[in-house]
Amino acid sequence: MWIYGAGLGGLCLAVVFVPTIWFLTNQGISHVDTSPQSHNATSAWCSGKSNVDRVCRFKNLCFSSVYDTFLFLHGEESILDGIPDQRFNPALVDLSSVADHNTQYFHYVDAAVENLRELPHRHHIFKMGKFLLFNRFNPDNIMHVFHDDLLPIFFTLHHHGQFKDGPNLTLLPFEGWIHGEFFDLYQVLSKDEPILKLDLKEDTLTCFDEIYVGLSGLSTWYQYGFNIPQGPIPDHSLTSFHVKYFREFFQRKLNLRTTCPPNAKHGVLLSREENRLIVNEGELALKISYAFNMTMLTVSLETHSISQLIQEISCAKILVGVHGSLFILSLFLPPSSIVLEIFPFAVNPDRYTPYKTLASIPGLDLHYVSWRNMEERNSITHPDAAPQYGGIRHLKEEEQRRIILSVEVPPHLCCKDPEWLFRIYQDTVVNVTEIIKVVTEAMTSSSQDSSVGKASWIDGV
Ligand SMILES: *[C@@H]1O[C@H](CO)[C@@H](O)[C@H](O)[C@H]1NC(C)=O
Ligand SMILES: *[C@@H]1O[C@H](CO)[C@@H](O)[C@H](O)[C@H]1NC(C)=O
Ligand SMILES: *[C@@H]1O[C@H](CO)[C@@H](O)[C@H](O)[C@H]1NC(C)=O
Ligand SMILES: *[C@@H]1O[C@H](CO)[C@@H](O)[C@H](O)[C@H]1NC(C)=O
Repeated sequence: MWIYGAGLGGLCLAVVFVPTIWFLTNQGISHVDTSPQSHNATSAWCSGKSNVDRVCRFKNLCFSSVYDTFLFLHGEESILDGIPDQRFNPALVDLSSVADHNTQYFHYVDAAVENLRELPHRHHIFKMGKFLLFNRFNPDNIMHVFHDDLLPIFFTLHHHGQFKDGPNLTLLPFEGWIHGEFFDLYQVLSKDEPILKLDLKEDTLTCFDEIYVGLSGLSTWYQYGFNIPQGPIPDHSLTSFHVKYFREFFQRKLNLRTTCPPNAKHGVLLSREENRLIVNEGELALKISYAFNMTMLTVSLETHSISQLIQEISCAKILVGVHGSLFILSLFLPPSSIVLEIFPFAVNPDRYTPYKTLASIPGLDLHYVSWRNMEERNSITHPDAAPQYGGIRHLKEEEQRRIILSVEVPPHLCCKDPEWLFRIYQDTVVNVTEIIKVVTEAMTSSSQDSSVGKASWIDGV
């Protein structure tokens, strides 16, 4: 990794470019095409004790698309403040709020500013303004998008004093993925259009005026089981004030109403179209609707945009569905509403608690209940599916038999445990009678510990 000066300088560049400079304002960010001679040295200021809690600010940090790495350009004016001696042990900063994950480490390579002209970059670009460099952890999954990225970005901007009515930094999601389905949510937290690693030109050294690196873990409440089985982060510091502050900003930016119609009385059923189905979903919606005298909206990512989902959920009295990523939108539920999470056969609700932990944050005033299918005959398994969707045919027969006979998935680590996938991807015929009972109990306790006014909506029970 250590290719200071001489190392990189050894790679000679035959062509010398005439230093032309011009300004482009594409994406609202000013670019200057510069020359190897006109680069300023890099400086860094870091604080924190380890890669997990460290954050850094760089001036003139450059990304080389030739070497696929950041270059720290050492020069006489370079300032290095708070850089540990052991910066590869394991890393200077985590690029994700997911702590100490070995695919999320930020490193840079040292180079001497005077050796730049010897490096094989065909173009030199300078981007003015302030940027936040981070990795999206799993941009395809809405739970991960909110928990790992959006909330941490929001609080990181505040940490750096770069948020006043809105973000004052432009996002640099640098994990290397394409925009993805939820990119518009990241745009909300970016001063100008975010720049992906894929957006940077080939054969180019792109230098950034000012970059903040790393995401604050302040708002994270769940760990995914990389070292120990998944569970709440002990003593996490997310409070209802954080959630409400984030939620109000997001609703405003997405142009969603922030108050509910006074007579609003509906529930939301999170539906899945491909797998992990509630076989009798229609019956469930109808009977909840009848029992509690409220309209039930059945929604999914296939039929609704995230904005529409947030809009409906932000006025819902109850949110129902099978354990899955859309439950993260309970961030937007109004006070005194109920979260009902359904678990397939052999999946113990106590072991998978990202949404229970969220709903239990004091002050959010949500009522969390779970229902678990205890009847194997009401479950439909998919042993022939692809392994990532719970198929088990790739396993030894003995192991397949063990899994099929097991009545509870034992504690396991992330992310490819075949028994967990086999069970979580079951379809379920839910017992509507039992579910109505659980919800009724939750509503009764909800009306008991809420003020008198809030109790009126359960009059249909
Ligand atoms: C380099 O530093 C000088 C002096 O601080 C400044 O005037 C100039 O704009 C800087 N150039 C770049 C490309 O940052
Ligand atoms: C945003 O950053 C710019 C410089 O990039 C600075 O001039 C401005 O004062 C900042 N605004 C806020 C509200 O912090
Ligand atoms: C639903 O649960 C109740 C009580 O546990 C039980 O009596 C009933 O048979 C169940 N219904 C179905 C369809 O499994
Ligand atoms: C059900 O709700 C509607 C309006 O939301 C109300 O007019 C009606 O009286 C309610 N029915 C019962 C049985 O509470």
